[in-house]
Amino acid sequence: MKILVTGGAGYIGSTVVHQLINAGDQVVVLDNLYQGHRSAVHPRATFVQGDLADRPLLDRLMADHRPQAVMHFASHTLVGESMEQPSLYLRDNVVNGLNLMESAVAHGVQRFILSSTANLFDEPEEIPIKDGERIVPGSPYGESKHILERYLHWMDRIYGLKYAALRYFNACGAAHEDLGEDHDPETHLIPLVLQVALGQRDRIIIFGDDYDTPDGTCVRDYIHVLDLAQAHILALRALDRGSRTYNLGNGRGFSVKEVVETAREVTGHPIPAEAGPRRPGDPATLIAGSEQIKADLGWEPQYPELRQILETAWAWHQKHPEGYGD
Ligand SMILES: NC(=O)c1ccc[n+]([C@@H]2O[C@H](COP(=O)([O-])OP(=O)(O)OC[C@H]3O[C@@H](n4cnc5c(N)ncnc54)[C@H](O)[C@@H]3O)[C@@H](O)[C@H]2O)c1
Repeated sequence: MKILVTGGAGYIGSTVVHQLINAGDQVVVLDNLYQGHRSAVHPRATFVQGDLADRPLLDRLMADHRPQAVMHFASHTLVGESMEQPSLYLRDNVVNGLNLMESAVAHGVQRFILSSTANLFDEPEEIPIKDGERIVPGSPYGESKHILERYLHWMDRIYGLKYAALRYFNACGAAHEDLGEDHDPETHLIPLVLQVALGQRDRIIIFGDDYDTPDGTCVRDYIHVLDLAQAHILALRALDRGSRTYNLGNGRGFSVKEVVETAREVTGHPIPAEAGPRRPGDPATLIAGSEQIKADLGWEPQYPELRQILETAWAWHQKHPEGYGD
């Protein structure tokens, strides 16, 4: 299949592109390199540097390459930033996504995968969060993904665009030692912890150690980037059988202390950690269930262990302590 991947130079998108090309698909990557890295793009992918805000560019790209499917990863991605700069999310993320969907439909694309988020569930009734949980976006970031999901719903009803929306929390780990996570600024716990092991930070601050969890620190869902990639590809192949929306999670959570402790074991570094105050708005435990995608598509995480996650991330960070360097 010929697939346009937006954000294919970013962390998750670049991993999906590698998997698609290894599976024999043809890939066109569109990325403005705002966060992405040219060298993360698979050499056999066609790379176009450009911005989703540029609708004429999107139309040219669709006309020139005639993709059969679109996988949409390009986005502003930070919950905290979205609370400070909501317009980047409620305007840019939304308008860029709509540009892409409209251009796709205008050029006869019939399949669309949206990288959504579990930040749609700010007040879950149950943990793990079930498929079909009531939507209460936790931030302008979550709201922007919710709007794109709703737009897809109508694109399907009106134009027959089949879509999958995948809702997940923290992507982590590395596909291999040359393909991993490199964000600037880095805000995710695992790379920050590993930066301490690399000597790039002196310690890690734990935001609150008095939560109602087994060791007092927040428990979160960490899902390996290869498992995420596999889920996106399975969802793409299933679209001929109709649109779908899934939660994607590891199935269990790990506390901040467990992450730090496992990182100490994997790296052999003492990784000093210090408890600080809670961050406003951080719930004690967030874990996504994945029952529906398991039942429908047979998806199962292959890297659910914290040790596997940290070992793969460490292999990448050790070999590329400064990231991609571009
Ligand atoms: N990383 C996570 O833990 C996580 C969790 C849930 C959902 N997601 C979603 O997954 C997707 C990918 O996340 P990621 O961590 O790989 O992010 P990333 O920042 O590494 O990748 C996003 C890519 O999109 C590109 N981009 C951004 N805006 C663009 C624009 N206007 N035009 C063209 N390119 C643009 C960036 O340069 C970057 O390469 C995002 O949609 C994010 O919301 C991520």
